[in-house]
Amino acid sequence: MLLNHDLRKQELRVVRSSVVLISVVSVLSVLTVLSSACGSASSVSSDRPTLAPYVPTPQDVVDRMLADANVTSSDVVYDLGSGDGRIVISAAKKYGAHGVGIDIDPDRISESRRNARNAGVGDLVEFQRGDILQADVSRATVVTLYLVSSANLKLRPILTRQLRPGSRVVSHAFGMGDWKPEKIDRFKDAQGDDRVIYVWRADGTIRP
Ligand SMILES: C[S@@+](CC[C@H](N)C(=O)[O-])C[C@H]1O[C@@H](n2cnc3c(N)ncnc32)[C@H](O)[C@@H]1O
Repeated sequence: MLLNHDLRKQELRVVRSSVVLISVVSVLSVLTVLSSACGSASSVSSDRPTLAPYVPTPQDVVDRMLADANVTSSDVVYDLGSGDGRIVISAAKKYGAHGVGIDIDPDRISESRRNARNAGVGDLVEFQRGDILQADVSRATVVTLYLVSSANLKLRPILTRQLRPGSRVVSHAFGMGDWKPEKIDRFKDAQGDDRVIYVWRADGTIRP
């Protein structure tokens, strides 16, 4: 009887300590998951801000952007936020231009490199993973953009400081504050949707 009672007490103690152990392990797991989530979120937001979501420019609008910028084989076309690489790949394929695409998303960069190889222009274009706000675009003679107005405004001082006079900046859909474009091209795309393309020419004036 006494033995039975002692066994029950011991069994209770084992059950209690198991409950405590399971609780500690659960709390520690939750803390680990939270801290790693916070770590990756803060490194993305502080090091590499996402300025615009991925939405590709339709191919007929890409062709129009390149035509509006008068791209030729002597141009070096930079697409800032280059998505699947279609703008620089098209510039290389259609005009023989060199191109550089920069995107924050590593999957887009792998996809672009594959697309460039498949299009046979792997020797004319390159794709870099990086933050366009940190980019060196001084080699560009044409810069293409499909971002949003606030991102264009952040890029404006960078572009106007780095680009040589005569270089063109072409933006699908979004303007750049009070920097007056040289050309505004409004048209309906192949799907019948309204589109607008802006073209500016760098003139050596730095615009904050
Ligand atoms: C609207 S898509 C445009 C894609 C391509 N230029 C086109 O017109 O088809 C915007 C792209 O910008 C990229 N992006 C957003 N913020 C960025 C940043 N800070 N640095 C580099 N790329 C960025 C996104 O990953 C996305 O691929």
